[in-house]
Amino acid sequence: MERVASIPFAKNAFAVISETRRGDIDANVAQLTGSLRTRQFPALLGERSRGFRVMVHVDGELASIGGAQKRELERTISACTGLRLEAGGRGQEYWVIGRLDMDSLMFCARLPKPAQPRKARGALSHELSSMLVLASDPHPGDTFLDPFAGSGSFVVARLGMPAREIVYSDLDLAEHRENLPPEALSDGRVRLLAEDALTLPSVADASVDVVVTDPPWGEHEELPMPYEEFADLTSLSLARVLRPEAGRFVLLCARRGVPAFEEALESAGLRVAATHDILVNGHPATVFTGTRDAAPQPERAATGASRKTPSKPLLIGMGTYRRSLNRFSR
Ligand SMILES: C[S@@+](CC[C@H](N)C(=O)[O-])C[C@H]1O[C@@H](n2cnc3c(N)ncnc32)[C@H](O)[C@@H]1O
Repeated sequence: MERVASIPFAKNAFAVISETRRGDIDANVAQLTGSLRTRQFPALLGERSRGFRVMVHVDGELASIGGAQKRELERTISACTGLRLEAGGRGQEYWVIGRLDMDSLMFCARLPKPAQPRKARGALSHELSSMLVLASDPHPGDTFLDPFAGSGSFVVARLGMPAREIVYSDLDLAEHRENLPPEALSDGRVRLLAEDALTLPSVADASVDVVVTDPPWGEHEELPMPYEEFADLTSLSLARVLRPEAGRFVLLCARRGVPAFEEALESAGLRVAATHDILVNGHPATVFTGTRDAAPQPERAATGASRKTPSKPLLIGMGTYRRSLNRFSR
């Protein structure tokens, strides 16, 4: 159970205590309640409080059940566990769960998650960051780079796995530094840079095994160039630093940025293997995963013939960034 609870990308993990064939919800809850006295409640690690509460979550949303059924369920949980009901408390959670694709209703104990440091405003969640880092197929010998690292979500997720070097880079490092988690500052594998992701002057050609990154979404930030141009320059920069053949990338962008990045990545020599549409706090987004082509970078990138060199770094002032976060808190 401890291992399941610590799966980094799972927000909620449960031990199923009892289940019944799905029908009328109040009748189901009465059946589940009746079965509980003969069931063993798991000893949950990390139980700090002597309280508990009950959630009913059916087909993706919170559901209500009859008052009498709820009270009887709560009385039974209390009798079985010795815990007392604390409806608004932070104690053990017991969930009644129904899922569209399952024909049973389940009574479950939510497994306590190991405590995670608080996230900075606008940072991606621990779960999504871990999932995207895992999507990059991490290897212990990797040099890892996030060139738009922000609060360091991907860097911290990557720190939980073996790596040779983990490069954090963000033009606004000075602003982000005070909020970076201590492990990002103390772990000897981490290199901190404050460089323009479009040029990355201290990162040598073909020196990076894997990039996982979340460039500005261009939705509220004032990019100093059209989004298509930004996608082009970002992709060329990633193609330059990634190792040909072995280099992998995972890139998250706003869904409406997909056409720009699709074209930019491919024309920079980055082969898109898959795209995944996701929601980030309700905002449509897309994840690209892929590899650096074995072939030399395309003419355009190699010769610089039509490469657009940014006249100024694509720095989003923190003021602008914070304003955008007020409207778009992820
Ligand atoms: C969408 S945020 C990344 C958020 C990050 N994934 C997190 O969870 O905190 C984009 C980041 O890119 C940085 N940034 C914007 N333009 C940049 C550039 N040209 N070079 C490097 N960093 C840049 C911003 O400072 C911001 O931190």
